[in-house]
Parts: sequence; structure tokens; C-alpha cells
Amino acid sequence: MNNFEFKNPTKIIFGKNTIEKLTTEIPQEAKVLLLYGGGSIKKNGIYEQVKSALSKHTVIEFGGIPANPEYAILMKALKVIKDEKITYLLAVGGGSVIDGTKFLSSAALFDGDSPWDILSKSIRTETGMPFGTVLTLPATGSEMNSGAVITREETKEKLAMGGPGLFPQFSILDPQVIASIPERQLVNGITDAFTHVLEQYMTYPIGALLQDRFAESIMQTLIEVAAKVIKDPTDYKSASNFMWSCTMALNGLIQKGVPTDWAVHAMGHELTALFGIDHARTLAVIAPSHYKFNFETKKEKLAQYAERVWNVTEGTTDDKAYAAIEKTEAFFNELGIDTKLSDYTKDYEGTAEKISKRFTERGWLGLGEHQNLSPDKVEKIVKMAY
Ligand code: NZQ
Ligand code: ZN
Repeated sequence: MNNFEFKNPTKIIFGKNTIEKLTTEIPQEAKVLLLYGGGSIKKNGIYEQVKSALSKHTVIEFGGIPANPEYAILMKALKVIKDEKITYLLAVGGGSVIDGTKFLSSAALFDGDSPWDILSKSIRTETGMPFGTVLTLPATGSEMNSGAVITREETKEKLAMGGPGLFPQFSILDPQVIASIPERQLVNGITDAFTHVLEQYMTYPIGALLQDRFAESIMQTLIEVAAKVIKDPTDYKSASNFMWSCTMALNGLIQKGVPTDWAVHAMGHELTALFGIDHARTLAVIAPSHYKFNFETKKEKLAQYAERVWNVTEGTTDDKAYAAIEKTEAFFNELGIDTKLSDYTKDYEGTAEKISKRFTERGWLGLGEHQNLSPDKVEKIVKMAY
């Protein structure tokens, strides 16, 4: 096992009817900016619960943060923060609203030239404006980590940012919010969380027995509840297990002491930036090709995953490893998620070259757990995913 340090300061408030706890979690004297997305919270009762809990606080609102939070829109929110002298941010939404809020938390205290530098120059955020979240969509784990991904339509870029100053102070996780989530977003959430685990697991054995079993148990739980959550999102047992699995998949715990990959996300983000494909779907497009291309270096973990998660007991290590890739792709397909780029766009020719060129320009010359996935290899993987 590798050496590691682990600190996660986010307070999780989990369970039925927990949104009312906002009243005591946000300091009474705070001037709050309530941030939300396209309006789902106004249809499903979450907005009313938030407003009622904050009835004695000073609250200003900023809605309209789109899926794949857009820089230009967030810059309008930043102006509100400055003009209104906001002191506390509250994200009420999925990964996009939470990520947008993290960007604002950082940008509000940033004294450089342009807040875009935080993303383009990978400036770590040591201290941000305090914020909390009410999670409305289990998927990204953003509610309990310190990362964010921001999109800029103008340049067709989607870049990541983060730092120890960007953990939410608290996150409220009421699994009842799942009831109103459309199936498309539910299956996205399952696929995203599942791939988060894969990115932190599908590398090479390092003797981290507990981390492996944490990872496998999250994937097993997601597989177990997936169909139930889709069939009946009001089923609290499935909803609560789904929600907690998504948070645990990317709150930092399972990646401690082990090598991690994240190349699927790096390539996937480009597909969202170029074509607007939902984040989770880009991962389902790239992952099978990525694992096939890197078969030799990943096959031991692929085989272990096949045995422990998919109960594949027959065959050689190679047979099991190959079965693991097929099972994974079939799982995504069963959820209704297409796994080829051509299923999403007719304009895919040239995409692999474009992504490879971008990675070269950004100096991303060696991705993956061995830092040897060079842009020419990225090009081959993306082509395999056409
Ligand atoms: O905008 P509204 O109207 O609220 O509707 C949203 C949105 O259209 C809707 N929704 C959310 N909760 C709902 C609901 N509809 C009905 N009932 C509810 N309770 O769902 C749609 C998608 O929301 P979004 O926040 O975009 O989805 P998700 O949580 O999947 O977030 C995706 C974003 O997170 C980033 C992705 O790149 C993408 O930009 N990620 C963030 C990560 C992180 N910070 O750690 C890691 C991930 O790998 C990912 O990159
Ligand atoms: Zn993801």
C-alpha cells in the first residue's frame, strides 16, 4: 500500500427530512446566496423546504446554472456575490450546481487577473468562501469532495479545478429527492459513480486489500440497486443505498494508498466539451476501449473485478479480464446507455486527433496510473470508441 494522508472535513447530514437542518448549519448572521439550476427544485418541493428552513436568514437567489456549469453564467453570479457582499454560498442541486458553487467559492476570494486562470493554470484553491450543499442528484460525489469541473462554451473547454479550500462545510443528503429525477439522470448517476470507482480501482494490484473491497462493495451495491431505483425512485431503501454509494465513490476514501487512473474522465470531458454529451455517457463510451487498449497492464485487476463483482469464476486471467470489460459494457447498455461515440453524433471523424492535439498542447503527455498514456495512445483509444 502507498503512503497517504486523508482529511475530509465535510459534515454529512443524511436521511429523511434533513433539509430543515439548514436552519442551524448556516450561521445566522451570514448573507447567503442560494444557487440552483434550471428550476427542477421549484417543481419537486425542494425549493420550498430550503426557503422555509432559511426563513430567518438573509437570502439572495441565483438560478439558471446549467448542466455542465457554464463559466459565462457563473461570472454573472460572481458579480452578484460582490455587489451584494455575500458571505455564504448554498448550492441546491446536482454536480453542476455544486461545481459551479465551488468555482464561485474560489473566484470570490481570487485576486489574480481572471478567474479563468484558476482552471486554465490549475491554481489550487487553499481557501474559498464557505459553502454548503443540498444534494438533489446522486452521481458525482461533488457533495463530499473538493473538486469541480467547469465548462466554457466560448472555447469549447471543460476543465477541472480544486484544492483543500473547496470541501463543502456540510452536505445534506435526503434520499427522498430522488423521487423526481428523470430516468435519464438516474442512469447517468449510476454510470458516473460506477466509473468513479473503476478509475480508482482498475489499475494494478498494490496489496491494498481494504481499499479493493471498499471499491468492490460500492460497485456491487450500485449493481444491486440500479434496477430498483429506476423502477421505483420512491423506494427509500434503494434510494438511500444509491445515494450513499455515489458519495462514497468519490469522497477520497477509496483512492487513498492506491494508484489511480482518471484517463477515462480526461477523455470523456473532451467529448462533453466538443459535443455536449452527458458526462456519464462519455465515460461509458471511453471506458470499454480504454480497458481493451490497456489490457496487459490492467488485466490482473480486471480479472479480480470479474471474479468478485461479476462472479466470473471460469477461465484464465485473460478470459476473466476480458469478460469483465464485456460485463461492464453490458451493464451500461442495460441501463440504456450507449457505448459508442457514433451513437451520439455523426460528426465523430477527426475527434480522436483533436483530443490528442489538445492534450499535447496542455502538456498532458502521460495520463493514467503509469503516467505513460501519451496523446498518440489517447488518439487510438478514442478511435476505438467511435
Ligand atoms: O438544473 P435542474 O433544473 O435542477 O435539473 C437538473 C439537470 O437538468 C436535473 N436534476 C437534478 N436534481 C433533480 C433533477 N431533476 C429532477 N429532480 C431532481 N431532484 O438533472 C439534470 C442534471 O444535473 P447535473 O447537476 O448536471 O448532473 P450531475 O450531478 O450528473 O452533474 C454533472 C456535472 O458534474 C461534473 C460533470 O462533469 C458535470 O459537469 N462532475 C463533477 C465531479 C466532481 N465535482 O467531483 C466529478 C464527476 O466526474 C463529474 O465530472
Ligand atoms: Zn464522473
